[in-house]
Amino acid sequence: MPIEPQVRIFASPEHLFHSAAERFCLIGQQAIRDRGRFTVALSGGSTPRGLHEELAKDFSAQLSWKDVFFFWSDERHVPPIDADSNYRMANETLLTKLPIPADHIFRVPAEISDAGEAAQAYEQTMHDVFRSGPAAFPRFDLILLGMGPDGHTASLFPGTTALDEKKHWVVANWVEKFSTFRITFTYPVLNHAANVMILVTGADKSTMVARALKDPAANLPCQGVKPLDGELDWFLDQAAAAKL
Ligand code: 6PG
Repeated sequence: MPIEPQVRIFASPEHLFHSAAERFCLIGQQAIRDRGRFTVALSGGSTPRGLHEELAKDFSAQLSWKDVFFFWSDERHVPPIDADSNYRMANETLLTKLPIPADHIFRVPAEISDAGEAAQAYEQTMHDVFRSGPAAFPRFDLILLGMGPDGHTASLFPGTTALDEKKHWVVANWVEKFSTFRITFTYPVLNHAANVMILVTGADKSTMVARALKDPAANLPCQGVKPLDGELDWFLDQAAAAKL
């Protein structure tokens, strides 16, 4: 039975990123103590940049980074050097700043021209790392997400086919408004995580945040994130929480 989401509101983005970094490390330390590794999926978009910079700047001694396994909850269908690449952003703001073994970084092979093939290849990589058997879904220790102004999360956009995926872990999702595919985790993967953190900042998202958290009938993609046996935390700055 999904548990009630926690909503944490911070005076500024800086306070939010510091607290999110603390929680990231707390979850990581616990996972490494219990299972010898910390499996985390990073979010795309611009908001996570603040968290990455905070982790690299003030939390480098807080975690045994050699035991962290990095994935992405979604990726744009572009090569890793592209300015739009979520991997590139994380590489520049986090991965190159900390002692992380290269073979613990599992980026989406989004340079593969067929987006469906890229998604399949990524799912296979996850099977190889999680070894959770054909029927089961991987249980990430932590999945990081954001929310778009239309209520999308990862690359689960309103009205797209990936919203209905029940079997695959990763799919190529056609996003009409961007005339492109995105490669994204599906709800089963998001909802099998032990912890999900959704980071949202800025007044431009305050209406959608209020709908997502107060209007169960809004039927927004981000409302489909309901960990079955895990914690869901919304990290909001005051501007994003202004209409709650
Ligand atoms: C992406 C994301 C997406 C993102 C939201 C918010 O690849 O774009 O994963 O879901 O989290 O669009 O983006 P911003 O943080 O840039 O507002």
